[in-house]
Amino acid sequence: MRECVTALERASAACNALSCNLRMTNEGIPNLTAFDDAALDKAFGALARTARESAATLHSDAAVEAFRLEWLGRKQGRLNEVSDRWLKTAPPEARKAVGQRFKVLKELIEELLDGASGSAPSDGALAAEAIDITLPGTRRLTGAEHPITRTMNEIVAVFAALGYSVGVGPEVETDYYNFESMNFPAGHPARDTQDTLVIAGQDRKPLRDRLLLRTHTSPVQMRTMEQQPPPVRIVIPGKVHRNDAADATHSPIFHQVEGLCVDVNVTFNDLKGTLDHAMKALFGSSVKTRFFPSFFPFTEPSADVQISCIFCGGKGCRKCKDSGWIELLGCGMVDPAVFAFAAEKQPAYDPRKISGFAFGMGVERIAMMKYGISEIGSFYAGDMRFLGQFT
Ligand code: PHE
Repeated sequence: MRECVTALERASAACNALSCNLRMTNEGIPNLTAFDDAALDKAFGALARTARESAATLHSDAAVEAFRLEWLGRKQGRLNEVSDRWLKTAPPEARKAVGQRFKVLKELIEELLDGASGSAPSDGALAAEAIDITLPGTRRLTGAEHPITRTMNEIVAVFAALGYSVGVGPEVETDYYNFESMNFPAGHPARDTQDTLVIAGQDRKPLRDRLLLRTHTSPVQMRTMEQQPPPVRIVIPGKVHRNDAADATHSPIFHQVEGLCVDVNVTFNDLKGTLDHAMKALFGSSVKTRFFPSFFPFTEPSADVQISCIFCGGKGCRKCKDSGWIELLGCGMVDPAVFAFAAEKQPAYDPRKISGFAFGMGVERIAMMKYGISEIGSFYAGDMRFLGQFT
């Protein structure tokens, strides 16, 4: 121990004599030969003194940084060396004593660094610290709704004004709610149009309980009806998944807003009036709608809704492929088979007594039309130049 301290003192004296920054090399940390309290106090005390003396001479930022590297440098730093030579080699019974002193030394170095001004103690230093109040401040960006969220909220608001409430359901859905209860029986070819990812390792479960990423928001129709007897007026915004190749207008993950209205005497005319109103509210009062026969397993009859082209007013342009019309959503009268599934939990869904309509629309498609966006991928890329336009 004596040896080690004298080595330290010699090194420090040599440096002092040269009035340098005590740039002792790491070889300057000798091995300890004794680990009793007195020996440790001496060894750590010598290092602390060296550090204090060295810190008192730090008058430039570069010197402060050199001091930091010298003591705290990850590989070459002295503390690292102390840890290797003194802490790790300490006999088990002395480890705690070495550790405590090591911690104190480390805190001292950090304190010295905090206290080091880095600049010369002169008038110049004060001038350098003065704040220039004419400099621009730190600009913080204001957050804003994502265009998809905004469009979803706009659609929901149109229906909220008609007395609809809002419902949501899980994105990881069972086969029963996503397909079977929506009248896609096992093996039905309509399932092929909505291929999706299924959760692995469920082969031992009955098909109806197997989990998948929902392909549409329609399963929330059934979840809602199971929870409440008619009348029901609900819109369901949410994220859906399909095995679709991504291109300019398709994404395997996208968003829908579903609608469901069930009551006595709900007719196809109510469906037409509701959607015609909604399209005018979303795209402007001059927009016209027309209904084309279509097919969905859960509605009968089913229709595709087209609106007059909002780009050319119906005259025909590139956007509407010269037809003057743009197809926008699917809809139809709720199929009695769907009511039969709901009636298993809520007997009031008796198709002889009630009727209803449902509709579903793609949020991305509507947002792309409203804002003139040609690439669906722009919504997901997180490019602030794109998103910033919606603030
Ligand atoms: N769920 C259908 C789809 O995703 C849309 C739809 C909803 C059609 C409700 C009719 C009624 O394609």
